[in-house]
Amino acid sequence: MNLNEYKKQAAWAALNYISPGTVIGVGTGSTVFHFIEALSTIKHLISGVVSSSDSSTILLKSKGINNILNLNTFNSLEIYIDSADEINSSMQMIKGGGAALTKEKIIAAIAKKFICIIDETKKVNILGSFPLPIEVIPAASSFISNEVIKIGGKPRIRKNVITDNGNIILDVHNLCIHDPVLIEKKINLLPGVVTVGLFALRGADVILMGTNNGVKIIEK
Ligand code: 5RP
Repeated sequence: MNLNEYKKQAAWAALNYISPGTVIGVGTGSTVFHFIEALSTIKHLISGVVSSSDSSTILLKSKGINNILNLNTFNSLEIYIDSADEINSSMQMIKGGGAALTKEKIIAAIAKKFICIIDETKKVNILGSFPLPIEVIPAASSFISNEVIKIGGKPRIRKNVITDNGNIILDVHNLCIHDPVLIEKKINLLPGVVTVGLFALRGADVILMGTNNGVKIIEK
């Protein structure tokens, strides 16, 4: 089976966690693409969705899921379903490969349950092989690049990408993230950082991992 099939398996398994009448937080990316397809089959059962990106909003609408609600009207959501670029055994993640990390982090913060849907290649022992995305305001890119070099990273501005919020993405290569909480806090403190794609302070609650032997469920 190929990776796309693993993603699909995990995405469809997420339907088991959805209770009728709830509002669903929806992430971004190729795994979530499958989830949106799955969700469209039960769209009459849910109250609406909160989308993490313009691209997911377009996709949701294209699948007939039109009740897309404003994130600002919620302080709490029952469930958030999204993928990750990497996830470790403590359920801490690197996210932001799709440049949607800021809204993703806000939705994760208000969600009671974060279900992370992945293919098995995303599970790692130590975070950092995938370059860590940081959304920064454009005027801060030089300063923040210098600061991440001090902690051992090699920053690169992601080419031809402007986020939904009008900012840029710095991808930080070469980091071996042994203490994800510490690195998340350090980067969060830098002026000009909008969001760091380390989800360590608020990790996932459940992992649904597509594998050769079906979907593996890992709970906190
Ligand atoms: C988007 C994300 C995605 O969850 C992450 O990049 C994984 O994407 P994919 O499902 O395409 O592998 O964080 O900002």
